[in-house]
Amino acid sequence: MHSKRRLLVLIVGLLVVVLLVQAKSHPQADPCQNFYGVACGNWSAIHASDAYQSFLGQLDYNYQAKLADLLDAEYFAKGGHDEPHSVQQLRYFYTACRRPLTQDQVLRSLEQLIALEHIQFEEMTVGLTAAFRLQVLASINHYNKYDIFKQLLARREHWHPNTTNREPLTRQQFDELWVRMPKIPFPEKEDFWHQVSRLEAELTSIGIENDETARDELVSWIPSFWMLPWPKLTYRNLHRVTRLLALRTPQFMLTYIYLRLQLPPEGGVSKDTWLMDRDQCAEQSRQILSHAAVWLMEQHHPRLKEEPLLQDIFEELKQRFGQKLRANRNNFTRRTQQFLVRKLKRMRLRLSILPRNASATTVGQLIDGHYRHVHMNASDYFGNLYIGLNHSSPQMHEYGTFASPFYITEKNMLIVPLSLLEPPLYAHDQPPILTYSSLGFILGHELSHGFDSEGVTFSADGVASRAVDRETARNPRFQHELSCLDRRFGSRRYEKFADASGLELAYSAYFDTAQTDRKRHRSTDNLLSQQQQFFHNFAQFFCSDGEFSEESDHGSDRKRVNDAVAHFKPFREAFSCGTSHKRRRQCRLF
Ligand SMILES: *[C@@H]1O[C@H](CO)[C@@H](O)[C@H](O)[C@H]1NC(C)=O
Ligand SMILES: *[C@@H]1O[C@H](CO)[C@@H](O)[C@H](O)[C@H]1NC(C)=O
Ligand SMILES: *[C@@H]1O[C@H](CO)[C@@H](O)[C@H](O)[C@H]1NC(C)=O
Ligand SMILES: *[C@@H]1O[C@H](CO)[C@@H](O)[C@H](O)[C@H]1NC(C)=O
Ligand SMILES: *[C@@H]1O[C@H](CO)[C@@H](O)[C@H](O)[C@H]1NC(C)=O
Ligand SMILES: *[C@@H]1O[C@H](CO)[C@@H](O)[C@H](O)[C@H]1NC(C)=O
Ligand SMILES: [Zn+2]
Repeated sequence: MHSKRRLLVLIVGLLVVVLLVQAKSHPQADPCQNFYGVACGNWSAIHASDAYQSFLGQLDYNYQAKLADLLDAEYFAKGGHDEPHSVQQLRYFYTACRRPLTQDQVLRSLEQLIALEHIQFEEMTVGLTAAFRLQVLASINHYNKYDIFKQLLARREHWHPNTTNREPLTRQQFDELWVRMPKIPFPEKEDFWHQVSRLEAELTSIGIENDETARDELVSWIPSFWMLPWPKLTYRNLHRVTRLLALRTPQFMLTYIYLRLQLPPEGGVSKDTWLMDRDQCAEQSRQILSHAAVWLMEQHHPRLKEEPLLQDIFEELKQRFGQKLRANRNNFTRRTQQFLVRKLKRMRLRLSILPRNASATTVGQLIDGHYRHVHMNASDYFGNLYIGLNHSSPQMHEYGTFASPFYITEKNMLIVPLSLLEPPLYAHDQPPILTYSSLGFILGHELSHGFDSEGVTFSADGVASRAVDRETARNPRFQHELSCLDRRFGSRRYEKFADASGLELAYSAYFDTAQTDRKRHRSTDNLLSQQQQFFHNFAQFFCSDGEFSEESDHGSDRKRVNDAVAHFKPFREAFSCGTSHKRRRQCRLF
């Protein structure tokens, strides 16, 4: 398994090189207009059969495959018996997830949920994950119930339509099902029937419109495991269906789904079972018991030897940013200058989401303490989901990607998960140019967040300073540059600033010499092609299948790359972009 994966990574690496060569002779790919297209244009084609949709997703995927290796039963049998409590729970969770799942288990799980007094988003997550046989947890928060139904409606994975019934309920069917309903705090029978029949009439009516002009807009497929009424024909634009469902309370939806799942399926009784993939189960284990998962991985894949290398690069980036601060373009007062320089000096980098100042045993004990009330059942997957989500609910609403680094303002600290330090992003002994252009950029980006218009007013110890807040608010140059960012990027200004600043810092750390540099061999051979390689490798980090991340804080991957390089002079020089069309200058806070 391992060697196979490593080989894959190698092949991908080769393709990237081939792509670089091809791109140069490719007439329609203009790096000055769309550098993302040049660097990532073929990413989707190359990775078409892979389980992930982005470069970052690939890192997560590889990490999860390793975690699955560690959680598989054979390993356990070989003597993982006296493991900490938290790791045991992780194994139970994974083991239950890997067992065959049945419709009966789904119904038992929904029964427990709808009998609860308060059905919130954790319950809804478990219910929908079970009912729709989701491999990835639904991410539900107070605001995106609409999005979750949109995603459910868009699912088109292979499934057998005989599994469910999609005809509206008759009153007789409803009466029969109602008798079998567990005792639930909600609702009153006639009231519930009224709501159900109204929703079903609305759902069905959406589909029977027969507008000749919109023929090619018709949807002929059924979303995976759909068990609500589904018209024979419906429009491709499913937002009306989505809205109808999102308007209902979690309590109503789960109860209603529970009722409908008991209808006999269209082709007779369905007795099928299904299995979750091992990497999906590893992913969920990581989502549900994240600290235990990371602890286990770090025991088996220690990356401590990489720490000095990355700490050194981080120090270099700090030096570069320090030069900018000391140049004091904003003409800040001495006090604010000292405040900023001190903050930079005291900023730390931690290469793990786990504490680094304690022994492994102590950290293990801390994690055990954190999960002491969690008792997973090795044969009850849905029950475990609920236990896990209920335990960690405050931080579970935004799953995000696990490989993402982040900056914690209150601690003035960068956290870079060790999972990032893997191919294709990082390999031991890779040429420094690859490390600087990828990890260097990432560190520079996160460092810059400490000085974006929001982070800048927090001190070295993470305390907000009213004085600095006042000064930046009154500083004409700072405000001028801020409105430059605002005009161009709106609410994404923080991220765009961090991208541009991070790229500049990483580039400068690699190519410019400074007195503070330690002795490092920088070859000046083929400087131009080195510069181009630097930018190509930087862009690789954002390669993905199209625009699926359009709505994130960072904007689409294409725009992220293109915006970051658009006004960066060394980039424009490296690709001879010239000044033929109107160039705007870069917005610079410092
Ligand atoms: C993109 O990749 C596909 C599949 O590997 C290949 O057939 C195609 O020639 C590539 N196109 C470019 C422009 O590299
Ligand atoms: C699916 O249902 C149809 C009738 O609706 C039936 O003819 C067919 O055999 C069923 N297929 C399976 C695999 O159960
Ligand atoms: C910088 O600010 C000081 C007062 O704090 C002022 O005397 C000086 O003229 C300013 N310099 C520039 C270049 O604006
Ligand atoms: C380790 O660091 C954490 C904060 O990151 C702190 O709360 C804890 O007291 C520290 N432990 C030791 C032994 O220094
Ligand atoms: C674990 O789950 C199974 C299946 O739901 C159940 O029969 C069993 O009682 C559970 N065990 C514990 C200790 O709760
Ligand atoms: C959910 O969490 C609360 C406290 O946060 C706890 O009292 C309750 O027992 C938990 N429920 C389950 C099913 O784990
Ligand atoms: Zn960011």
